Amino acid sequence: MSKQPDRVIIFDTTLRDGEQSPGATLNVDEKLTVARALARLGVDVIEAGFPYASPGDFEAVQKIAKVVGVQGGPTICGLARATRQDITKAAEALKPAAKPRIHTFLATSDIHLAYKLKKTRQEVLEIVPEMVAYAKSFVDDVEFSPEDAGRSDPEFLYQVLERAIAAGATTVNIPDTVGYLTPSEFGQLIRGIKENVPNIDNAIISVHGHNDLGLAVANFLEAVKNGARQLECTINGIGERAGNAALEELVMALHVRRSYYNPFLGRPADSTEPLTNINTKEIYKTSRLVSSLTGMAVQPNKAIVGANAFAHESGIHQDGVLKNKLTYEIMDAESIGLTNNQIVLGKLSGRNAFGTRLKELGFELTETELNKAFVRFKEVADKRKEITDWDLEAIVNDEIHVA
Ligand code: KIV
Ligand code: ZN
Repeated sequence: MSKQPDRVIIFDTTLRDGEQSPGATLNVDEKLTVARALARLGVDVIEAGFPYASPGDFEAVQKIAKVVGVQGGPTICGLARATRQDITKAAEALKPAAKPRIHTFLATSDIHLAYKLKKTRQEVLEIVPEMVAYAKSFVDDVEFSPEDAGRSDPEFLYQVLERAIAAGATTVNIPDTVGYLTPSEFGQLIRGIKENVPNIDNAIISVHGHNDLGLAVANFLEAVKNGARQLECTINGIGERAGNAALEELVMALHVRRSYYNPFLGRPADSTEPLTNINTKEIYKTSRLVSSLTGMAVQPNKAIVGANAFAHESGIHQDGVLKNKLTYEIMDAESIGLTNNQIVLGKLSGRNAFGTRLKELGFELTETELNKAFVRFKEVADKRKEITDWDLEAIVNDEIHVA
């Protein structure tokens, strides 16, 4: 019987589900750069890709497994449909990792069974344990996801999960694939699984969710209260359609409100032990890096990492913050690695200072890209007194990724 952890495991899927965002494709080197940043951030598991999907994905997972998945580093995970060819390919790509995980999935909702898979419930009940056992013949760490769990019949879901765990799944992940559930429904689903799957204590309960109704983060927090111990998320919340649950929002909610969440993890409310292994000071830099490499700008009012997240515009707010930051701020900008000094460069700044600041912000530019961005910086700096980090981000995104 595996003991449920008294902290929350952060499973990052920026490089798999996040990269499924329209237009967010990354090449192998870019994926490796992101994977290194995720390791510095302290994520427990990196889902590096879907090895069967393309030779590029296979190569990226293999390279990340070798370079980032070293002893003491994060678990490296590869996605596989519940088929022998997918699982074999994932196992091959993950071979160099010190801690490899195969994540296999099969849909369980009637709508997916009828229209996508054209399979019966009975067939699913047979395929799942067979494929989990097959994955287990390659690695000890196997995760199983019943896709579209959020719209599946709970009684059927319990049976599928029981069989997956009996066959060796060490994590069972509950996806709200279409972002349909509300927080109380998601909490109830997790509670139902805990109460009705007889061998559930042999696995860690994970959650995965999309943001179609803007509820993914709220759903996950409710899931934690009901027993989930792994959260599957992406940097900046990128992902299919409206995206996935955002890592930075989940981590900072658990961090800022830890006295509220501590008791749900069996700790005293006043425990100061972190709830995750994330080094929150790396959040801002990692967000910028992912935005820069994917070309997906972060909306200004995005929680935690948006340009306005720590900006105070109204006179009343500015006055309050100057007297005591706690009047209008629930967290310190420094806790996510933002320097309070946002004004960094001006028209007299040189190329070196410009390049250094971009590096600090997480941008990895080639010489040619840096030169191009520097020309644009000088044009902007000529018209403005001050250039902030947010201006720099806009310059890089406009010049390098959009132009
Ligand atoms: O959204 C989803 O259901 C997925 C699964 C593969 C976990 O991404
Ligand atoms: Zn997904």
